[in-house]
Amino acid sequence: MKRLLNKQIVLGVTGGVAAYKSADLARRLREAGAEVRVVMTENAKQFITPLTMQAVSGNPVHDDLFDLKAEAAMGHIELGRWADVILIAPASADCMARLVRGEANDLLTTLCLVTHAPIALAPAMNQSMWKHTATQENVQALQAKGVSILGPGEGSQACGDIGLGRMLEPAELVDHVAALFKPGCLDGKKIIITAGPTHEAIDAVRFITNASSGKMGYALAEAAIEAGAEVILISGPVNILAPTHVEKVAVITAQDMFKEVMSRVENCDLFLSVAAVSDYRSKTIATHKIAKIAFTEVLELERNPDIVASVAQLKNRPFIVGFAAETDNLEVKAKAKLVNKKLDMIVANEVSVGMRGDENAVTVFWSDQQREFLKKSKRKLARELIKMIGDVMTANAFTKGEMDAK
Ligand code: PMT
Repeated sequence: MKRLLNKQIVLGVTGGVAAYKSADLARRLREAGAEVRVVMTENAKQFITPLTMQAVSGNPVHDDLFDLKAEAAMGHIELGRWADVILIAPASADCMARLVRGEANDLLTTLCLVTHAPIALAPAMNQSMWKHTATQENVQALQAKGVSILGPGEGSQACGDIGLGRMLEPAELVDHVAALFKPGCLDGKKIIITAGPTHEAIDAVRFITNASSGKMGYALAEAAIEAGAEVILISGPVNILAPTHVEKVAVITAQDMFKEVMSRVENCDLFLSVAAVSDYRSKTIATHKIAKIAFTEVLELERNPDIVASVAQLKNRPFIVGFAAETDNLEVKAKAKLVNKKLDMIVANEVSVGMRGDENAVTVFWSDQQREFLKKSKRKLARELIKMIGDVMTANAFTKGEMDAK
């Protein structure tokens, strides 16, 4: 079995002597079953020609952010979405610094901002440049953003120095990339995730909603895909794109979300109820705009179905993780929801910390246990939550198996 069968890899090549090894790397990635698309910086072309990289990768080389022909075939946004991983080898000190700053001044750095795929760098530079505090700070900053740093290796360098800074050999890099795809903690599991707010119409122009952006739910969907799960994302109206490989079902109201969840939840292993569902809807929806003066007389509310509580009533229920966003008494209120809705686990977050922004901090409660996750990006937090949920599900299955055997 080819280790990278059908994996879509963007191979970024930046300016450095080690770029001569990138051709061999592209060839080996393809031998392992991957489809490879090469993106070269202007400096990389000083060391190896686009023609060579095109020949070994079997695809046209991408090198210009403003190339109309390339954009017509596969634009930079599509290329970023196409990638299952972006591997930059060699990654120069300059490229790393630009990635830390989030610059988008060439095709490669732009792709790194666009993509939801994991990014791996194989640094290659003079040993003094590698040791420099600026580079080491950049390495730490990139790792904190979830970027994998592969190497560098130690040995004699093109400049005559000896030390750390050599790009890892192509065969080693193929091993590292294959390891990024190793079966995750949710391998083969079917997951439904709800995310975002719901909109409950009142009249032609007004609706009841809340401040959920969908970012937490979408980050969890991405992390679950990375962990090997099959993910259905049932989302209220949001302004962000669904991660690749996720089946997205767009809904507007709580009733729509309820229907879509209940029709799919059969045979599902895990349900993550991240959506901020409106508890109430207007009893009637006026087709015209209700006059300001009549508003309080007309507005009458009725309860929406509780989606997660309904899933918990099913005979063949999945493992259920609810979320609770509170402004006060976080622990007490979250634990009450865990019990009242009959959930397996609840993730509690402060509204002021976790709603809308790119970061979150949570405390997770289950059985008689709890675990705290400090403030970090929602993407990073999502990976840690998925890992923990996978571990608890495995432990539960093990305990259940032992009980069944008795
Ligand atoms: O989208 P972001 O901006 O990234 O913000 C993320 C978040 C803060 C919205 C998310 O982390 C979060 O906390 N979501 C749950 C919001 C909430 O407070 O829900 P709740 O207390 O109303 O409901 C508790 C649980 O029941 C939730 O799992 C909810 O999805 C579920 N529920 C609620 C009502 C309802 N009718 N049906 C439900 O399934």
